[in-house]
Formats: sequence, C-alpha cells, structure tokens
Amino acid sequence: MTNYVPTTPPVSVRKRTHLVADREALMRIFIRPESDAARMTLLKYMDQILFGLHDFLTRHVGVTQEISLKELSERFVGSTIGRHPEKKLADVITDLIEDIAPHAVNVASPYFVGHMTSALPFFMVHLKTIVAALNQNVIKLETSKVVSVIEKQVLAKIHRLIFQESEAFYQEHVQNPQTSLGCFIEDGTLANITALWVARNALLTAKDHFAGIETEGVSAAYQAHGIERLVVLVSRLGHYSLKKACGVLGIGNRNVIPIEVDAQNRMDMHCLRQNIDELHDSSKKNRILAIVGIAGATETGSVDPLGRLAAICAEHRIHFHVDAAWGGPTLMSEKYRHLLAGIEQADSVTIDGHKQFYMPMTCGMVYFKNPSLLDAIEYHAGYVNRPGSVDLGRKSLSGSREASSLILDSTLKIMGTQGYALLIEHGIEIARQFAVEIESRPLFELITRPELNILTYRLFPPEIRSRLQLAATEETVAIYDQINAINRKVQQLQREAGKSFVSRTTLRVHQYPGQDTVVFRCVIMNPMTTLDVLCEILDEQEAIWHRIANEE
Ligand SMILES: Cc1ncc(COP(=O)(O)O)c(C=O)c1O
Repeated sequence: MTNYVPTTPPVSVRKRTHLVADREALMRIFIRPESDAARMTLLKYMDQILFGLHDFLTRHVGVTQEISLKELSERFVGSTIGRHPEKKLADVITDLIEDIAPHAVNVASPYFVGHMTSALPFFMVHLKTIVAALNQNVIKLETSKVVSVIEKQVLAKIHRLIFQESEAFYQEHVQNPQTSLGCFIEDGTLANITALWVARNALLTAKDHFAGIETEGVSAAYQAHGIERLVVLVSRLGHYSLKKACGVLGIGNRNVIPIEVDAQNRMDMHCLRQNIDELHDSSKKNRILAIVGIAGATETGSVDPLGRLAAICAEHRIHFHVDAAWGGPTLMSEKYRHLLAGIEQADSVTIDGHKQFYMPMTCGMVYFKNPSLLDAIEYHAGYVNRPGSVDLGRKSLSGSREASSLILDSTLKIMGTQGYALLIEHGIEIARQFAVEIESRPLFELITRPELNILTYRLFPPEIRSRLQLAATEETVAIYDQINAINRKVQQLQREAGKSFVSRTTLRVHQYPGQDTVVFRCVIMNPMTTLDVLCEILDEQEAIWHRIANEE
C-alpha cells in the first residue's frame, strides 16, 4: 500500500484570497458553487468520490498513516471561529481530500478486519448524497410525505424477513397509520434502548389509580406493581448498550444480569433457568423485564439458542428481545438463516443498517412482532405528531431524523436477498477457512470458533505453551500475564505499522477458566478480504513476534 504524498501545499501555506460573508455570497451558496473554477474542483473530487472511492482509498490511504495522535492533535488546537469566511468551498474540499482523508482510517481496506465497519458498495455514496440533497425529515408527513410511506413499506419488508407473518398480516399493517411494525433510529444502541423502553412501559402499565411508568416514574410504578427490582437477563457477552438502556430507563445498569455462556459462547440454558428460579424465590420482589438473546455477539459472533429462549420467555410471560444488530442480515442467506432459528418468536428485534446491510453510518432499526406494542412510547405535540396523525415521529425516541429508510429500500432493490446472501456467505465461509489456517500454524491458538463471521485467536508460542504445561500452579499466573502482554504488544505494533488492522479484546473462555485472555478479534465482512489477505495478516503477526522475541 503506497503512502499518499500531497500534490498541493498544506492548508497553512495555501494562498488565501480575501473572502467576505455578505448577502450576495449567502444567496450563492444556496444556489450553486461560487465560480466555474470551484465547480471544476468539486466535479474533479466528486467524480473520484462517487465513482472511484475504492481506487482513491487504496491509492491514497493506508489502513492508517504513520502519524501519532499527538502530532495530529497539535495541528488542531485553534478554538476561535473566523468572523469572515476563511476558505472557498473548493478549497475546503481540497483540504478534506488531501489533508484530512489520508489520516482517516481506511475502513474499506480488505486488511481492515478488526471492527464491524467496512467497505461500502460504491452506490451507497450516491444514495446518501440524494438523501442529503432531498433533506427530508421523517419526524412528520409535512416534511417527508412519500418518504414516510416508503419507510412504512421497507419496515414491512424487514419485518417479514424476520417474523414471516402472512400476506394478509402485511396487507393489513404495511400502510396502516395506527400500527407500527418497527422504527428507524440512529443506531443499534438506541434501537436496544427503544426495545427495552417499550417493554418497560408495556409491563408497568396503568392500573387502578396509577397512570403508568412513563407518566408517574419508576418509584410510583414499582409501588403500584408491587415490585422492588426490575432486571434484564442477557448472556455475559451482551452489548454494553443494554446497560446504557437500563441506566437511561431508571432500572439501574447493575440490574442487567450477565448469564454464563457454554463452550460455544451461547447463553447457558441451565444457568438461565437457575437465575430465573433464584429471582423468583428471592425475598425481594423481583420482576424480569426482558430476556435478551444475541444473534451475533459483538466479540465472538456467537448466536444464543433463540428458539429455547423464546420458549422460556413464553413460559414465564417475559418480553423476549433479540439483539441482531450484527447478525440480522444472515436471514437473507438461505444457506445460513437457520442459524437464527427462533428469532421469529421474538417480541422485539434490533438490526443495524450500518453493519451487515452495508449502509453508510448510521442506521439502526427495531422491529416488534406485535404492531401495537410501539403505542407504549407514543408522544404528541401541538405543532407536530398530533393525535390521529400519521407522522412516524409519534412513536420514536428520535426527533428529527434523516431518511435512511430510502437508502435501505433502494439498496434492497439493487442487491436483492441473493446479493446480500453472497456477502454473508463469503464472510462466514472465509471465517471458517481462516479458523482452519490458524489451527494449522503452531504459533497461534484459535480461541473462539466462528459461528457467523467473527472469530478470536491469539499468539501462543509453543515454548510458552510447554512452559505452561509444566508450571506449578503459582507460576501459571505470571505465564498467563506474559501471553496477554505479548498479544497486546503484537496487536499494537501491527496497528501502528498501518498495513492491516485486527482488533483486540479480553475474554473469559472455557479453555482457561477464571483467566482473562487477551485475543485478536477478526470480523470478516469485506468481500475483498480473502484467505490470502488473512494469511498475510498472520504472517505479519508472526514476523512482529519474532522481532520482539529476538529483541528480548
Ligand atoms: C450485538 C450488538 N448490539 C448493539 C450494538 C450497538 O450498535 P451501535 O454501535 O450501532 O450503537 C452493537 C455494536 O457493535 C452490537 O455488536
């Protein structure tokens, strides 16, 4: 990967013409670029951005450029806003492309396999541009009209993908202004918060003289419903957004109870039942708000036994939420949709558009099996979202928001389920091949086997492995610390070298009970990430390890 050398001088030395903010200039920026020269600059870059972003990124941007955060932050210290314009639009765009982009992270690189952010199909940039140009606000019909109607349709399409209700069901609800199959929101965190907000309000509902938790607050609600503590049960691999949700909702984040996982990193059903029994037997008046099943755990990609969780929730009449922020689009692959079997029995499901729908940042969604459930969070205002209106903002945590549904709807038409299936299947199958490769190399140890397209592994050099086998119990802690330190160091050096990026996390795994295990985390979603690319990443890690070992 070549490092980018700027062709124009940096911002500080570029010639500045005298610019004035006046009414005439103001009118111009609402209509068109300032001049023909500016227009040409815009077109030059827009052409690259719209039609050749991939080429642009691979030519100009490594995974990251070798520049320290300290050096970068020293360049951005001014905190005054100029009274008059400093730059023309064309110059600002030149700065963005030539001075800023090279220091952004090239998440589109096939060697960037550390996070749930990756290359986009190039047309996403076109669709996002159109959404920005239309500037619809989906909070209300008066600022979105047809977009609200399309949004209801795309909600029905994804709802059908998940819940597979009958044609008659979708005919009844697709454009029904009184019911909601789900809602778009900014991200997966807010989607999870919405799901638990709905579940909380539906549980602690109005009764006798009590008007409901949304109106009267947590204390009155607990009193009215005779409970002392509300809890949410999720595997200990649950995303931390669930804790935020319980914090925001007044439930308390310590009441997210982490359930142990089995050897495949799926929620352990025995532990779950034990926890439910203890909560019910306790002298405290506990109530389980929801059980959350994960369809694609953030760190391991594992999928909880959703069908069995659904059965337990039905037995105890508990809200069943599935966090499919990551794994949801697996439903589009006929080959692998069985991995999410049971999701159709959920009460609510989170899915992110900016993850495996390959949409640009950001787009979250939450779906409800019962189309009346979202009524539990309905709000009105005099100027918008009036009672009886069809405004989508009536039942949403967001206020104003962009029309990301338009991007998803267009993308579904361009890709079809088969297009997405190819992407999903590539990720899962390359992850499996990568696992085999890791296991064939003596320097590495596979830590979590991929169920979807995420796996974790670590460097575990044979000499340290044999030392551990022979070590007395009191010596093992120091050896575990040493292995963890090696893996931290190698990940850091690889990241700093800037050619490839694998992330790092610390897991508790069944192979090493009670031990914190530092691992490399690999997320394979870029269709250009091949097994060869992944082997190069392993080669680089081996080389870094040998270099460190020789220096010691
Ligand atoms: C399983 C899961 N749920 C929720 C989230 C939160 O999504 P977001 O980052 O869009 O808020 C993530 C993000 O990684 C996730 O992996």
